Amino acid sequence: MIALRRVGPDEFGAALDRAIEIYTAAMRPPADQLAGRKGIMRTHATYPDFTCVFAERPDGVLVGFAYGFHGLPGQWWHDVIHRSISERGGEGAARGWLGNALEIAEVHVHPDYQGKGTGRAMMHKLCEGRPERTAVLSTHDQPTAARHLYHSLGFVDLLTQFVFPGGYERYAIVGAPLPLVRREQDQGRTPPV
Ligand SMILES: CC(C)(COP(=O)(O)OP(=O)(O)OC[C@H]1O[C@@H](n2cnc3c(N)ncnc32)[C@H](O)[C@@H]1OP(=O)(O)O)[C@@H](O)C(=O)NCCC(=O)NCCS
Repeated sequence: MIALRRVGPDEFGAALDRAIEIYTAAMRPPADQLAGRKGIMRTHATYPDFTCVFAERPDGVLVGFAYGFHGLPGQWWHDVIHRSISERGGEGAARGWLGNALEIAEVHVHPDYQGKGTGRAMMHKLCEGRPERTAVLSTHDQPTAARHLYHSLGFVDLLTQFVFPGGYERYAIVGAPLPLVRREQDQGRTPPV
């Protein structure tokens, strides 16, 4: 049985090494991207209204995590995506999606624990009770479990085949109105199996 628990920036910071282990196992990132990831996560934890969900085994071992924060001008991801949506869809579209948004930065489940509903349950818990109008995030633009999961939660494509400045991989930028939709078969299904 995996249980979900909401934690704040201090507890997230204290568990950062294990979070990086899960990130590495789940994402298998190129070495050049792993180096700076810990610093980026540390910085994210200082952003306004940071919220994090831990997925833990009964013995307390962390097996998944998801976090987000209130997006604001001056944050790198926010500014890049705001500019790009604005260029392609107009300033109104950018403001509509990003003007009052929960920006979800990381969602990962250790491969040994994937496919049991944990990722979906973490997304619901992360977004539960948030005051923002939308949730937005980026994910690899490939037919992945993440792409499937976000689509089934009501996320739609805002940008596809998007390459971040200085990067080379292709991402989809997706957004959903809050609260997230809950499928009928998932009603009352938290915490996950
Ligand atoms: C994305 C991720 C967090 C989902 O967590 P999870 O606990 O495995 O997800 P769930 O068990 O809640 O299932 C999510 C859905 O994906 C589906 N799925 C699983 N593998 C899939 C695949 N290869 N292709 C398409 N869909 C897939 C599941 O069937 C489920 O959908 P369903 O409920 O309609 O059947 C997890 O797979 C992961 O950590 N992946 C690697 C890291 C990653 O991509 N993170 C997201 C970065 S934006």
